[in-house]
Amino acid sequence: MREKEIIALADQNIMNTYKRFPIVLVKGAGQRVWDVNGKEYLDFVAGIAVCNLGHTHPQVVAAIKEQAETLTHVSNLYYIEPQAQVAKLLVDNSFADKVFFCNSGAEANEAAIKLARKYAHENLGSEKFELITMKDSFHGRTMATITATGQEKFQFGFTPLLDGFTYVPFNDLAALEAAITGKTCGVMVEPIQGEGGVNIPDDKYLAEVRKICDRHNILLIIDEVQTGIGRTGKLFAYEHSAIQPDIMTLAKALGSGFPVGAMLATDKIAQAFNPGNHASTFGGNFLAMAAAKATLQTILQEDLLDGCRKKGEYFLAQLKKMQSRHKIIREVRGKGLMIACELTVDGADIVKKCMNRGVLINCTGGKILRFVPPLIISVQDIDVVINVLDEAMGEK
Ligand SMILES: Cc1ncc(COP(=O)(O)O)c(C=O)c1O
Repeated sequence: MREKEIIALADQNIMNTYKRFPIVLVKGAGQRVWDVNGKEYLDFVAGIAVCNLGHTHPQVVAAIKEQAETLTHVSNLYYIEPQAQVAKLLVDNSFADKVFFCNSGAEANEAAIKLARKYAHENLGSEKFELITMKDSFHGRTMATITATGQEKFQFGFTPLLDGFTYVPFNDLAALEAAITGKTCGVMVEPIQGEGGVNIPDDKYLAEVRKICDRHNILLIIDEVQTGIGRTGKLFAYEHSAIQPDIMTLAKALGSGFPVGAMLATDKIAQAFNPGNHASTFGGNFLAMAAAKATLQTILQEDLLDGCRKKGEYFLAQLKKMQSRHKIIREVRGKGLMIACELTVDGADIVKKCMNRGVLINCTGGKILRFVPPLIISVQDIDVVINVLDEAMGEK
């Protein structure tokens, strides 16, 4: 089927929840994808921070193939070996003692919200059910997670929302402290706000949030759906702050594109869940776990985290140089390969011009160009993107 036919077929039959670019991607390898016409693109979107190992990574492909030929799915009523192995990999490399598997970031956050409430109900008192989340946060699209999300545009038209959520400005410790009441059971926060615009808090912010949670005996839930699995140059972004959360959520890059979500917790908190309290038919199934195991093993074995930090610094430095050439760049910021270039003007036109020149980038919040490329990109790829951006921004 040709491009126009595929687009028409999709528009006729798929609900109108995405504003899509008029290209049809059909193939990928490493940091590159190709459309149905054979045009090549350098992919600095990577499925929005999903394909951290690049597209069709040989280890991930081999693992999925082998598993698909062996056993695809059984119920969680039975033990699943790769599920146990992925849980062990996550536990060994994080603060956590136990893992719950699901299929997306929103589901991981749903599970976290439920676990926090259940733990609080049993251990802190039934009057403690409220979670404090951050303005400009993003936690997903289910009813609980749009409620947790501190942006009205995602909640509009879906009221009534859930009870028990309050919002404070991100990176504002005084506001957080002031918002804690006798009803508060926890704080939910992204280490860096992704959809909100790659907002990076002060270096000490997370550590201070941890201290506040400890002082008030409430839980710290870290949403690492976007920042996790190496994106910021550490396996998990909370590691930059040398703290330990009580609960953490993952998804996006965990399965290299295979849908996997996970909610991790310390033993103490995890004990609040008993058989029947929470479940997911597909959570942790064979195929998902084959993808996640190959992804984690590859990230841990290859020196991707160090490279991510170095390439991120290089990219940031080049973007900062660009700032002197283009007045429309308001600010450049980032950590690892989670980078933003905030403009004074709408970014859609720049994204389109880059796409025409064979470079895929993303724009969030209207004016913020977001770069979340595969961690395997080269310095030469960064130079290509800088040149293309230069041209796109210089063009009237
Ligand atoms: C920080 C964060 N949490 C949760 C989600 C929701 O994840 P999903 O789209 O897999 O439900 C996202 C998605 O962008 C995210 O960035």
